[in-house]
Amino acid sequence: MCGIIGYIGPKNATETMLSCLQSLEYRGYDSWGLAVNTENGIAFVKEVGKIGAVSSVSALPKSSVGIGHTRWATHGRVTRANAHPHFSNNKKIAVVHNGIIENFQAQKKFLTQQGFKFYSDTDTEIIPNTIEYHMRRGYDFVEAAKRSLNHLEGQYAIVALHADEDQDQLIAIRKEAPLVIGMGKEENEFFVASDVPAFLDHTKKVIFLEEQDLAIINRKLTIFNLSKNIEVHRKIENIGWDPVQAKKGNFDHFFMKEVAEQAEIIERVVNIDKVLIKEIADEMRKAQGVIFVACGSAAHACLSGVYTLASVAKMHANFYFAHEFKNFKKFLTPESLVIAISQSGETADTLDAIRVAKSCGAKTISITNTFGSSLSRESHRTIIERAGPEICVLSTKTYTAQLAVLTLLAYELAGKMDEGVAKLKELIRYIYYLTSEEVRKFIKKIAENLRYTEHLYLIGRDLQYPTALEAALKIKEVTYIHAEAFAGGELKHGVIALIVHGTPCIVFTSEKNEREIISNAMELKARGAYIIGVGPNNNEAFDVWIKVREDEEANSICQIIPMQLLAYQLAILRGCDPDKPRNLAKSVTVK
Ligand code: AGP
Ligand code: GLU
Repeated sequence: MCGIIGYIGPKNATETMLSCLQSLEYRGYDSWGLAVNTENGIAFVKEVGKIGAVSSVSALPKSSVGIGHTRWATHGRVTRANAHPHFSNNKKIAVVHNGIIENFQAQKKFLTQQGFKFYSDTDTEIIPNTIEYHMRRGYDFVEAAKRSLNHLEGQYAIVALHADEDQDQLIAIRKEAPLVIGMGKEENEFFVASDVPAFLDHTKKVIFLEEQDLAIINRKLTIFNLSKNIEVHRKIENIGWDPVQAKKGNFDHFFMKEVAEQAEIIERVVNIDKVLIKEIADEMRKAQGVIFVACGSAAHACLSGVYTLASVAKMHANFYFAHEFKNFKKFLTPESLVIAISQSGETADTLDAIRVAKSCGAKTISITNTFGSSLSRESHRTIIERAGPEICVLSTKTYTAQLAVLTLLAYELAGKMDEGVAKLKELIRYIYYLTSEEVRKFIKKIAENLRYTEHLYLIGRDLQYPTALEAALKIKEVTYIHAEAFAGGELKHGVIALIVHGTPCIVFTSEKNEREIISNAMELKARGAYIIGVGPNNNEAFDVWIKVREDEEANSICQIIPMQLLAYQLAILRGCDPDKPRNLAKSVTVK
């Protein structure tokens, strides 16, 4: 979940890595640190909190090689001592690590018996010390690192340096956590990072490390695959993203910038290669059982897709949270098709679901925003969403892009691709309006009324139900208000007991199910709820109405936008950071 960076090259490693790390901060932001190799050993900085300014690292001497980390704690509290990099007892080896070393307790015990001391509560600290343990036995740094991996169970990406073995050398290891190498523009310049945005300002030429790859980066790049025990050559890929896409521009926060990009992104989705869409739709048609898997917002996109497929294409599909999917694997056959949706393409639970599906012989397809991600490489076929880098921890534009891809698939399955394309194209202008200043101001007023609320309920039926779930998630994540969504029909089965005078409730409507959902709104109103209606028509049940025109199957794309704006405005009013909510990380690479 954290962000890792490593640098070798002619620039000042400290400054270069600091800016790279800032671009990776969405991956973790509870503490951070940098280490560089110098003539007098390893120099480092560690701090709790968000990444500091260049002045905070001015004490570090100039160096051409270093490693850095922005942490999302799994083992050990958020303290300076637990921040990375971590060091070996002899202070010669520094390591940054993303992931979890599952057997760290046993290994720590073993190393303690060998006389090693520990200065943090992290699982990470056993890594440099295990390497030192092997070096004490006469192995060089690279061989000791290779041997150490036999002692480390779990998922990890590691970048390590040694103070004096070869000062201009980094070792990078990937096991079930992402790691990508950037080929710098200068001679002998390399970056290694958890994700491409880290070094997008410097290069678009990358090598995605594969499972069990160990890269030795010095004046050249050598990659060994540890499971095959051979040297391997990995392809250099060109990244299509523009560095400007990963910057805030004139916006105060990435959140608003990404919300405002949604019209453009729908346009990009419409231009996805139709042959690919047709081929994937064919796979779905042929399959005996289509199952969607995902987590978080992507899970809500899947559920929305299940409704859209049923109504547009008369196709039955199932959805499971990726982390629950393995419990149903006995149903899988080689004719099953499992479709995983993931913005990052690195969510450990989602990758695990795809691996489970493949182990049962099922066919797998991924819909992801991240070219070169583990998910795209591990599934049989992939559709790239084309939403561009999403930096805010909350998914906004990638969620609507997922909905648009699913809409295209549903219309293709119904044999009406042109209609689907026309429908999406028709939305573009309207989405510009929904993200305009006028709508933002209107939503801000609603937010002002809700800023002190601690509980908020949301209901919807049919396609509006996943929209309610997604809207609740957006509000929860970024405002810390307890927001809970229900299918409208569930209210009377228990939930309505929560409603008291003044409880705010958001009701999503559509023309198709207006009567039923308005009855639910009335039931809430009768118990004193304060009702915010979202949909095409006003109603006497509503205290406030957010008008969103009727767009049938595309309602889910339009109705979520004012809710994203509401979450944003509430976050600002409540003094929360819209881009980096507490306790969260963008890419959830641990199970
Ligand atoms: C959404 O706002 C989230 N922060 C989170 O729920 C996210 O959707 C989930 O972790 C899945 O991520 P993915 O799409 O990268 O797999
Ligand atoms: N397990 C390590 C820690 O808690 C790394 C966590 C991360 O991936 O940020 O420090």
